[in-house]
Amino acid sequence: MLMDLVEKVDKVSGMSTYPTTVDREPLSANGANGANGNGPIALEQSLVAPRPLASVSTLEPREYTEHHDDADSAIPPVRTIVLDRAPRPVAPPAQRESIRLASAAGPKRLELDSVSVSYGHKQAVKSVSLPIHQGEVLALIGPSGCGKTTLLRTLNRLTELVPSSARGGRILLDGDDVDDLPDTRLRARVSMVFQQPNPFPMSIFDNVAFALREQSRKRPGRRALEPQVIDALKRAALYDEVADDLGRPALRLSGGQQQRLCIARAIALRPEVLLLDEPCSALDPISTGVIEDLIHELRRDLAIVMVTHNLAQARRVADKVAFMYMGDLVEYGTTQQVFEEPRATRTRDYVQGAFG
Ligand SMILES: Nc1ncnc2c1ncn2[C@@H]1O[C@H](COP(=O)(O)OP(=O)(O)OP(=O)(O)O)[C@@H](O)[C@H]1O
Ligand SMILES: [Mg+2]
Repeated sequence: MLMDLVEKVDKVSGMSTYPTTVDREPLSANGANGANGNGPIALEQSLVAPRPLASVSTLEPREYTEHHDDADSAIPPVRTIVLDRAPRPVAPPAQRESIRLASAAGPKRLELDSVSVSYGHKQAVKSVSLPIHQGEVLALIGPSGCGKTTLLRTLNRLTELVPSSARGGRILLDGDDVDDLPDTRLRARVSMVFQQPNPFPMSIFDNVAFALREQSRKRPGRRALEPQVIDALKRAALYDEVADDLGRPALRLSGGQQQRLCIARAIALRPEVLLLDEPCSALDPISTGVIEDLIHELRRDLAIVMVTHNLAQARRVADKVAFMYMGDLVEYGTTQQVFEEPRATRTRDYVQGAFG
């Protein structure tokens, strides 16, 4: 039910169908927008005009409004910036990489055995077989249209919601055929986070509690759910930033915080596998760094499969890489092997940027 709702939100518009314009001013004349259309106002501001924000140093919630009446000016129109906490410094990528430890592959969680998917006559995924281990991040890479998202969504049977789709082969979750599991149960064990942050139009607390209530026969009250909600927010590296007001509307969070809330919602039920479809593509570099660190932490407890177009990100975050091309799995191996000693010419051309 939760996944169906999330899926509908994602499918209808490619982003949240809920109003995401809370507190947003009209776009600037040049059409510049936040990174994802619902990103933090401060980010929009920094993208469209590097105004002197350095003077803002308080931790007290304050509002800054700038007015520019000159229609010919290159400066965008009125912007309101609300800062309620100090920015959190993030280590530069090179430093983060150096503190990352090599993966310790745990038990096999998912096993794909000759998985094929077609939409009508079009075959989108062709006989893919690979294992997915706890303790590892598997990055699916490859040019647009090669079947990454289709393969990802097939792992928790979201693809079957497309009427023209058909699947062959077997997918085993901890040895059980996913076809034998009720879809809600499967999607609690193999949960998904989409490209665009899509929190529900409710409080931070209720976003996470929603997932927990969905899986519970009784409707547990707030007090009963609080420990699990807080635990999920902590594991998603969001709690410290929102602890003072969990009743705050989720849509008022920044884009990066919204995505971490979606991750908290997805991991609240302690899934064995987390599926991420380009989770950072709508985010700014700082939010991306925070989420990459989070992914790195989370992989200890679960298996993570992440689709990314960003090869540098795959190198930073993934332990294993699967390169797909026109529905085929061309190469699967450790990140180092795929990037530094690719076996297939096509893989080498792709990772060296010869085509994209
Ligand atoms: N709902 C659908 N109905 C019909 N065809 C689809 C559907 N979704 C995807 N396809 C087709 O399946 C193929 C694989 O698409 P998919 O979205 O899995 O690729 P992708 O690798 O994720 O691409 P991108 O990097 O652009 O997101 C494409 O040819 C696409 O047109
Ligand atoms: Mg895709």
